Parts: sequence; C-alpha cells; structure tokens
Amino acid sequence: MSVVANLTKPCLEPIEFKQIQKYFSDSAKTYETGAQLQHKVGESLLNNLLLNTFENNNRLTCVDLGCGPGLFTQRLNKQFNKFIGLDLACDMLRANTTTNLKVQANSHSLPFLPASIDVFYSSLMVQWCDLNQVLTEVHQCLKPNGKAFVATLVDGTLFELEHAWSRVDSDKHIHNYLTAEQLSYVVDTLPWSNVSLNKQTEQFWFSDAKMLAKELKCLGANFVQNRKNKGLITRSVWQQMEQAYQAEFYNDQKQAIPATYKIMYLELTK
Ligand SMILES: C[S@@+](CC[C@H](N)C(=O)[O-])C[C@H]1O[C@@H](n2cnc3c(N)ncnc32)[C@H](O)[C@@H]1O
Repeated sequence: MSVVANLTKPCLEPIEFKQIQKYFSDSAKTYETGAQLQHKVGESLLNNLLLNTFENNNRLTCVDLGCGPGLFTQRLNKQFNKFIGLDLACDMLRANTTTNLKVQANSHSLPFLPASIDVFYSSLMVQWCDLNQVLTEVHQCLKPNGKAFVATLVDGTLFELEHAWSRVDSDKHIHNYLTAEQLSYVVDTLPWSNVSLNKQTEQFWFSDAKMLAKELKCLGANFVQNRKNKGLITRSVWQQMEQAYQAEFYNDQKQAIPATYKIMYLELTK
C-alpha cells in the first residue's frame, strides 16, 4: 500500500509564490511574442469547453484561473454572462485589457463563495501550483454539475533541454512537472461526478537552445523552483549545454532542434 502511494502521490516542494509572481509580472509585456504553445493549448481547451452545451449561457459565471494577459478573454467573455479573469501577477492583469472583471488572487485560496461558479477555465497555470490545493478550491467554488476545463504540463516536458543540461551539471534547470500518474492520483482524491483526462504532445522547433531560452524568458516560464545556482550561467557552461543539445537532438531535415511539451487536458464535473 505504501509503495503504491509513493509511486503516485506527488512529493511537494514549497512553492515560491513571490518569485512566480515576479517572473510573470516582468514578462507581461513580452508574453504574447513567445506564446505559441499558449495559443495552441488555450485554443484546444476552449474547443473542449465549446463542445459542451451549457444551458442558460446568459446566466452563467466563468472564471479564467491564471488568465495572464488574456489570450482567450475576449472569446470567453462572449460565451458567458459574467466572466472573471484571475491572476497572481498584477502586471499580467494590467496587460489584460479585454475584461473589466479582474481579480488579483492566488488560486490556492480562491476569493469566491462556495458553489458560486459555473465554469472554470485554466490554461497552463496549475503546473506552477499545488494541484491538490487548487482543485480542492475549484471543487468547492463550483456549483453542482459545474465544470472545470484545465490544461497543464506534465513530466517529459522540455526533456531535451533537461537531458542537455544533465551532460553539463547536476543542478535543476527544468521545472518539476507531475507525472501523468501523479496528476491522475490527485484528481481522483476529489469527489468529481465525471473526469476526463487526455494527454497530448506538442513539439516546436528552434535554431538553437538560445532561441528556446529566449522564448521561455519572454513568457516568464524560465523560473525554476529550488535551483541551487541562482547566479548567471557562464558563456562556456552555456556552450557546453548547447553542444549537447545540438549533438543529440539536431534534426537535419528541419535544420533545427526540437522542444517537446507534454500536455494534459482535464475536464472535471462536480
Ligand atoms: C503560462 S501563464 C498562462 C497564462 C494564460 N492562461 C495563457 O494561457 O496565456 C501562467 C499564468 O498563471 C499565473 N499564476 C501562476 N501561479 C498562480 C497562482 N497560484 N494563482 C493565480 N495565478 C497564477 C501567472 O501569473 C501567469 O499569468
């Protein structure tokens, strides 16, 4: 029994909210320039949501958790009578100019009444959170039969970058993503009436690791929790990593290196 629990239950590190808030606030102005994954995933998540027929749309309240600068705000706003964008980072909310209803809050402690929300939409936020805590809050705030549409990243994301760094040092360079099994375990701890999980892979191509790193920085997604070496990476160390990346993953046809993302789409009904 304890072996099964060890295999599936995530081992949590303390979450550095202040740092997450800072990285995302700092990236608010550049976010859209690097957001190719975010557009793709957000679009799929929105399609999942639109496949559902919600009765009395004109009376429903939808919350976008971790809305960022609001890539999908306008379209969600159109779908629902009341739409609220929520984010930890003030500058992200400032950049989100397509809705007036914005809340600066931590998804670990939602500022909504129990059973008051019809739909939650959350794209690429919960990988920065304690999933169990956020889903517990979401479950509590949803009305009976309310739904949550969540997209998040799981283990295997950016494995090429992680592998290239492992050739150079033993520090942490990639965010700690839950495995698909851990995620499923957490979801199952709550009394959802229906659960649907769907795993997808997306791959993007870059001329070199520097371009990938630049994109992650534009998005604020370059923050790595509990990294030992918080200082600058020297040029020679970076070059070693770049060489390892190119040597093992360069694709002749594409004349580029890949960056892979493992995405889990969740559709949860209370
Ligand atoms: C990768 S961005 C995704 C933004 C948007 N959903 C999109 O797809 O473009 C992650 C967002 O989640 C927010 N975030 C991270 N942790 C959060 C938390 N605990 N509570 C609320 N927002 C959080 C960040 O500030 C950032 O705006």
